[in-house]
Amino acid sequence: MDIAKLPGVDYVHDANEVPWDFESETFDRVYASHFLEHVFDVNAVVKEIHRILKPDGVLEVIVPDYRSKGAYSDPDHKHFFTDETFDYWCDTDVGRDYRHTYPLLFEKETVEERRAWRFGYHLEKYLPSLAPRLLRIVGRPSEFYFRLRKV
Ligand SMILES: C[S@@+](CC[C@H](N)C(=O)[O-])C[C@H]1O[C@@H](n2cnc3c(N)ncnc32)[C@H](O)[C@@H]1O
Repeated sequence: MDIAKLPGVDYVHDANEVPWDFESETFDRVYASHFLEHVFDVNAVVKEIHRILKPDGVLEVIVPDYRSKGAYSDPDHKHFFTDETFDYWCDTDVGRDYRHTYPLLFEKETVEERRAWRFGYHLEKYLPSLAPRLLRIVGRPSEFYFRLRKV
């Protein structure tokens, strides 16, 4: 899904307009890569993704790390994410405190902080086993990856 008819896009739709044209509980997995920072109401879109996921379905999200330059460079970015943003829709202290705004939708399975470096491509190509450890030292915050399971 994308607002633009780009290569590989089979459903052109403005995600801000909910509900989307999918029946509830249609998908086993939703993969949202560098997408949520573009919508107006993240809470509404996360609820919509939850609606179209099957019971026990998985939501994978990649968003820019709030500490990265890329998070602020794109003028279309409306939201900034930390490793704790999805806690609001999970059974966590902050989620319980704000349950009147954020329903309990997901269980948090994985949160990864991903780093990038100018020569990261070469590092991963020539030193694949060392690359993750070296990137933790020389890399800069780049993006977060979340894997969430529908509850
Ligand atoms: C940074 S690109 C990411 C593209 C792809 N998901 C990826 O990870 O490579 C952001 C995409 O979100 C799309 N987008 C922005 N606002 C949108 C909206 N309201 N509804 C649907 N898609 C939107 C843009 O058209 C763009 O293709």
